[in-house]
Amino acid sequence: MEKSDAKKESIMEKLISLAKRRGFIYQGSEVYGGLAGTWDYGPLGVALKNNIKGLWWKRFVLDREDMYGMDAALLMNQNVWKASGHVAGFADPLVEDKKTKKRYRADHLLEEAGVDVKGMNLEAMSKALKEKGIKSPEGNELSDVRQFNMMFKTNVGAMEDESSISYLRPETAQGMFVNFKNVLDSFHPKLPFGMAQIGKAFRNEIAPRDFIFRTREFEQMEIEYFVKPTEWEPVFESFVKEVWAFTKDVGIAQEKVSELPIAPADLAHYSKRTTDFEFEFPFGKKELYGLAYRTDFDLKAHSDASGADLSYFDEEAKVRFIPHCIEPSFGVDRTVLAVLSSAYREDELGGEVRTYLAFTPAVAPVKVAVFPLLKNKPELVTKAREVYSTLRKEISGQVLFDDNGNIGKRYRRQDEIGTPFCVTVDFETIEKDNCVTVRNRDTGTQERISLDTLIAYLKGKLV
Ligand code: GAP
Repeated sequence: MEKSDAKKESIMEKLISLAKRRGFIYQGSEVYGGLAGTWDYGPLGVALKNNIKGLWWKRFVLDREDMYGMDAALLMNQNVWKASGHVAGFADPLVEDKKTKKRYRADHLLEEAGVDVKGMNLEAMSKALKEKGIKSPEGNELSDVRQFNMMFKTNVGAMEDESSISYLRPETAQGMFVNFKNVLDSFHPKLPFGMAQIGKAFRNEIAPRDFIFRTREFEQMEIEYFVKPTEWEPVFESFVKEVWAFTKDVGIAQEKVSELPIAPADLAHYSKRTTDFEFEFPFGKKELYGLAYRTDFDLKAHSDASGADLSYFDEEAKVRFIPHCIEPSFGVDRTVLAVLSSAYREDELGGEVRTYLAFTPAVAPVKVAVFPLLKNKPELVTKAREVYSTLRKEISGQVLFDDNGNIGKRYRRQDEIGTPFCVTVDFETIEKDNCVTVRNRDTGTQERISLDTLIAYLKGKLV
C-alpha cells in the first residue's frame, strides 16, 4: 500500500471512530452484531443531517417561486415500478463465487483489476473477467455475470400473493412523477416548475461499503423540474450552478468536487444526458450527486401504464404535450460524509495535538457551548446558566451547557464535534466587566465580549 493510501485509509478510520465516539453515527443494530449496509444517526448526526436538509429545502424550495414540496408515501403500487422500468432493469452486474456462493459486484472486481468498465455490457464483463483471470476475493472461480435487481420486495396487507407485492422505493423520484397531475390540478403552475422531496430510499446493494457512502437504506433530496421539450438545456446548465452552490452552502471543500459527464453508453435507461458530481472521499473519487435529463420518459411511461392524462396544456401556444424533466439528485448520507471529510482537521494548539471539525456554522450540530469556568462555584454556574438560557432563546440551532471536566477538556470536546464558539463565564464576568470569553474553534483565539453585545456578536458570526 502506498503511503498516501494508508494515510487516506487512516483518515477514514479516524472519521468513523470520531463519528461513533461523539454520537454522530453508529452501526445499525449494533448490539446484535449489526445489519450490513445500515447505519443509525445519533443526536449529533441527526442534527447535522437536519441542518443539511434544511439548507437544501431553503435553497431549492423556500427561496424559489417555482418549486412545490412533496412527501409521498414510501410504499407505492407495484405498477409504479413496472412502468418506471425498475422491475425489469434496476439491476447491478453480479458474479458468484462458485465455491462459497458469495456474491460480488462484477464492475467493482474489474475496476480493482484496472479495467475501465465504462460502456461494458454483461457479456463484455464476463469476457474481461475470464481474460484477466480474475478470481473471487477468496481465490475461487467466478460465475458468469448476471443482473441482480436491487429493489427490496415486500407484501402489503394480509395476502402474500402476486397482487400484494410492493417494493421499498429505490428513489424518491417516482413519488413526484405520480403526483404531477395532483400538483397541476391544485396549483395550476406554469412551466417551468419543479417538485422537490426529501426522503428515504432503499437498495439491496450487493456490496455496501465505505461507511455511509454505499448503504442499503439512505436518504435522497430530489427535484423533478418540468420544462418545455425544447427548453431543457439552459435549465440543465442552471442546475449545474445550483448544485455547485449547494455544495458551498454546506461547506464541502470546493477543490474536491468535480463534474463527470456520463458517456452515452453508461446512461441510465431514462436519461439522455447526465452529469455526475464527484467528490474526493478519503477512499477515492466517487459519485456525490447526479444531474440527469430524464426527457418525458417517466411522465409518458406512467401516462401509458395508468391511463391518467399527465400532459400539460400551454395556454399561450394552445398546445398539449408531456413536459420534459431535469432531475438533480442529492444523497443526504453522501453529503454528510463529504461534509465530515471536508471539515476534518488535525493541528497543534498550545503544544497539544488536537482534532476538530471545521464545520461551516450553518451545518454545525451545536452552534455555541456555554461554560462556567469552575463547576463548584455556584455564582459562576448561576450566571453561566442565565447566559445559556438567553442564548438558547436567541440563537437558531442548538446551544449546549457544559461543566464537565476542566476548561481544556471542554474545548477539546467541542472542537471534536465542530462547535464554532465556546462562551466562558468567569469571576471577572460577575465582579468586574460583565464580559465573557468567547473562544473561536478554528483559531483557538479568545476575545472578551460584553454580555450586552454577545447575542449580536454571535449572530453575526454564525451566518
Ligand atoms: N432518481 C435518480 C437516482 O436515484 P442515483 O444516481 O441512482 O439516481 C442519486 O442516486 C443519488 O443518491 C446518488 O448520487 C447518491 O448521492 C445517492 N445514492 C445512491 N445510491 C446510494 C447508496 N446505496 N447509498 C447512499 N447513497 C446513495
